[in-house]
Amino acid sequence: MGFYDEERNIETYVEMAEGLDGRELVDVLKKHLAPGSTVLELGMGPGKDLALLAEAFAATGSDRSQAFLHRYRRAHPDAELLFLDAVTLETEQRFDAIFSNKVLHHLSVGELRRSLQRQAAILNANGLVLHSFWFGEGAEENHGLRFTYYTDSTLTAVVVPEFAKVACVRYREIEEGVSLYLLLRRSSNSLPTPVR
Ligand SMILES: C[S@@+](CC[C@H](N)C(=O)[O-])C[C@H]1O[C@@H](n2cnc3c(N)ncnc32)[C@H](O)[C@@H]1O
Repeated sequence: MGFYDEERNIETYVEMAEGLDGRELVDVLKKHLAPGSTVLELGMGPGKDLALLAEAFAATGSDRSQAFLHRYRRAHPDAELLFLDAVTLETEQRFDAIFSNKVLHHLSVGELRRSLQRQAAILNANGLVLHSFWFGEGAEENHGLRFTYYTDSTLTAVVVPEFAKVACVRYREIEEGVSLYLLLRRSSNSLPTPVR
C-alpha cells in the first residue's frame, strides 16, 4: 500500500496544498491546444487542476490512488475518471493531450521513459503532453515516496524519440524557479507503439 492510498495521508496532502493549483500550467496548455480537445490528467490527486482543465477541454481524470478517486467521485458523481498507473497506462482510450502536475517525479528515470512511450501510444496524431516536475538534481525518498529532480538537460535526456520537445521552462511555485514544466508534441512521423 502506497502513501497516497491512505485516507489520512491524502487529507494531509489536501491541507498542505491549500491555496495551490496548476492554473499557470493549464494556461500554457490552452495556448497550444484547441478548446474542446480531449485531455487525460495523470495523478489528479484532489482534482483542482481537473476542474480547471474541464473549463476548456473534455477532461478525464486519473490516479493510481483509489482513495483520491473515491474522494473526487463523492463530490463529482458524473466525472470521467480512470484508475491508471502513470507508468503502464492500461487504457484503450485515446486523447489529444496528457497533463500532470507534480506526479511524474514519483517515478524513477526508467519508469518516466516507459511512461512517455505509453503516452505516445495513447495520444492522437500531433498530441501534446505537459508535465511539471521539481527542479534539481538526484533523487531521494521521503515517507516511502520517491522524489526525482530534473534540470532542463536531464529531463530532455529522458524524452523518447516519439516526441519533439516544444518547451522546457522553469517557473515559480511557492518559490522562484523550483519547478519545471516539459511540453512535448508527438512527432507526426513516429509510428505509434502497439497498445498492450
Ligand atoms: C504530489 S500529488 C499531486 C496531485 C495533483 N496533481 C496536484 O497537483 O495536487 C501526486 C499524485 O500522483 C499520484 N501518483 C503517484 N504515483 C503515481 C503513478 N505511478 N500513477 C498514477 N498516479 C500516481 C498520487 O496518487 C497523487 O495523487
